[in-house]
Amino acid sequence: MRVLSGIQPTGRFHWGNYFGAIKQYIDLQDAHDGYYFIADLHALTTIREPDVLRGYVRDAALDLLALGLNPERATLFVQSDIPEVSQLCWLLMTGAPLGLLERCHAYKDKTAKGMKADVGLFTYPILMAADILAYDSNWVPVGEDQVQHIEVCRDLARSFNAHYGEVFTMPEAKIVPGAAKVPGTDGEKMSKSYDNTLALFGDPKELRKKIMRISTDSRPMEDPKDPESDHLFLLYRLFASSEQIEEVKAIYLRGGFGYGDIKKRLADAADAYLEPARQRRAALEGNPQLVDDILKKGATKARQVAAAVLERAERACGLKNSLPQSLKK
Ligand code: ADP
Ligand code: TRP
Repeated sequence: MRVLSGIQPTGRFHWGNYFGAIKQYIDLQDAHDGYYFIADLHALTTIREPDVLRGYVRDAALDLLALGLNPERATLFVQSDIPEVSQLCWLLMTGAPLGLLERCHAYKDKTAKGMKADVGLFTYPILMAADILAYDSNWVPVGEDQVQHIEVCRDLARSFNAHYGEVFTMPEAKIVPGAAKVPGTDGEKMSKSYDNTLALFGDPKELRKKIMRISTDSRPMEDPKDPESDHLFLLYRLFASSEQIEEVKAIYLRGGFGYGDIKKRLADAADAYLEPARQRRAALEGNPQLVDDILKKGATKARQVAAAVLERAERACGLKNSLPQSLKK
């Protein structure tokens, strides 16, 4: 199975990005043909400072590799290194109904808030469809928030195939069980837009301080509490072993504990979990050439696949007829 997913370099990755998305990519890389990319073209819809974008792309590559994405198994690349995707995007734009895009939440949410959206944000799902279709992807592991975009991709592929013949492989969204909706420090969904994130990398002391500031309720200490409805417990569960989880569950149900103790346990568990990745990241930072080589090799491989799919689509539409017969498939 070809598994493909992209992640936008629009900030430093947080726990929500890891447990909601990145961890699934990494778990799937052993059994499948994984294609994972850093969606810098999509990030242009929000990041307009070239240096900031360059920095985030670099950080994204380092983070993904440090977290365990293995370039010997999966293909890692940067979206804009594959120009065929943008070319394919145009073919999909022609014939795409406006109404399909007007319903998409990225655009709808922004305009509903009275903010002005640019054409890039409006057509964002079509570029995403091109990303998916360009690699004959079978599965697309994503968080719940992206399922609508996969549906758009399937609609576009279906109507293109119906009109021009079987050109595209039909992809499926893969919502991985356990891809948790990770709460932030305030108990709402963790998101950089809510300023409630906990970082994967960065100063461990800062992280500990932020964990100690996670919001908690003001019920008396002695009251028993339901662990499943407490965001501090839900965060702890992401990092702890099953024995540790059972132990802390029992503490909640018994009552008579302080949240400070749970926060300390969370900080210790997160530290133990993240430390190997921090060390791998530090080693990669010291070897920029290696990271460049990995991305270049990934792009070369991805381009070969995308070029073949693009050519198939172009010919089906009646383009590229002036090329010699020998170049035809
Ligand atoms: P943010 O909300 O911080 O801007 P993104 O929208 O860039 O994050 O999300 C990138 C990926 O990480 C998406 O696949 C999304 O589903 C996943 N993700 C982000 N936040 C969370 C969360 N709190 N819980 C689970 N998954 C998340
Ligand atoms: N839109 C996705 C997000 O914000 C990122 C993305 C771009 C993507 N292209 C993709 C995800 C193709 C899956 C497949 O998370």
